Amino acid sequence: MTIIFESDCNRLRVFTALTGHDEDPVAEEVGAGLKASSKTLPSKYFYDARGSKLFEEICELPEYYQTRTELALLERFGPQIMEGFTGGDLIELGSGANLKIRALLDAVDAGQRQQLRYVPVDISETALIEAAEHLLELYPDLTIMGLVTDFHHPIDRLDPSRRKLFLFLGSTIGNLDEVQASEFLSRVTALMDDDDRFLLGLDTLKDVAVLESAYNDAAGVTAEFNKNILSVLNATLGADFDVDSFEHLAFFNRDEAQIEMRLSASREMQVAVRDLGLSFTLEEGETIRTEICRKFDRTSAEAMVRSAGLHIAEWYTDSDEVFALALLEKRSTAS
Ligand code: AVJ
Repeated sequence: MTIIFESDCNRLRVFTALTGHDEDPVAEEVGAGLKASSKTLPSKYFYDARGSKLFEEICELPEYYQTRTELALLERFGPQIMEGFTGGDLIELGSGANLKIRALLDAVDAGQRQQLRYVPVDISETALIEAAEHLLELYPDLTIMGLVTDFHHPIDRLDPSRRKLFLFLGSTIGNLDEVQASEFLSRVTALMDDDDRFLLGLDTLKDVAVLESAYNDAAGVTAEFNKNILSVLNATLGADFDVDSFEHLAFFNRDEAQIEMRLSASREMQVAVRDLGLSFTLEEGETIRTEICRKFDRTSAEAMVRSAGLHIAEWYTDSDEVFALALLEKRSTAS
């Protein structure tokens, strides 16, 4: 990790790292996904400024139960999650607007809070700094160390001697396929000691109509969010997608236990991606898969984390098991 920028303002330090810029693996991933016969795009391309704003709007939609349910769980179980965690780092991977961490900060008293350090990890430097400064206004005695990096890359600025509670919320793990999720979890496990913890937010398996309507909202925000990925490719890779000639599709795939978001070509078209030297034809009705959102129950979650050397110590959920927070710890090598 290369540090290219370091800023200091009493209790806020931000380290910015450039990762992967040498070979640009993202562009490669886009090329591979578009050349395949079943076309896919990496879902991280949703999140330019407009995409991030649309995602924030999604979180407020009546159909999108995930964000508000998870927040209620953090508020309700915050005291249990934070019990005994006196001193150490709260490391939030993909921290965004810092809304959820407040529930955990509110769960401890001022004395305990002063012993904590909040470590938001996010790809967007401006978003990270803005959110951290706002958090410092609310909690002036908090110490924050921000890390600007892609959370898929190893984090090497963590202090091995400090106790750690990792947080990966919002069911973002569901956007990774089985192999990617296992690799990601293993990288976090490698940073954990036996008494460290990892809080993972998971969307659960439930009534298909409820799942599908969360990704097909009446206001059409999710459709806009989905199509925005094409605008991002047009702007960043010189692609020429005719965004209005695509339709938003989102449906539950039972065999894979996942929502799939796709963009369907409403006519046959020719597409060129200038910076990749790539051009291809889309048939009418052909789809590009833009995102998977895997859904879990405790059994499938346990299987997933087990492959990374973790186990579920606590499973916090609401009475209808609409969403879950899995508190993970390292599996002892004996078991
Ligand atoms: C919070 C990124 C996991 O998969 O539910 C929302 C993203 N996609 N609506 C999810 C998303 C469509 C969201 N994540």
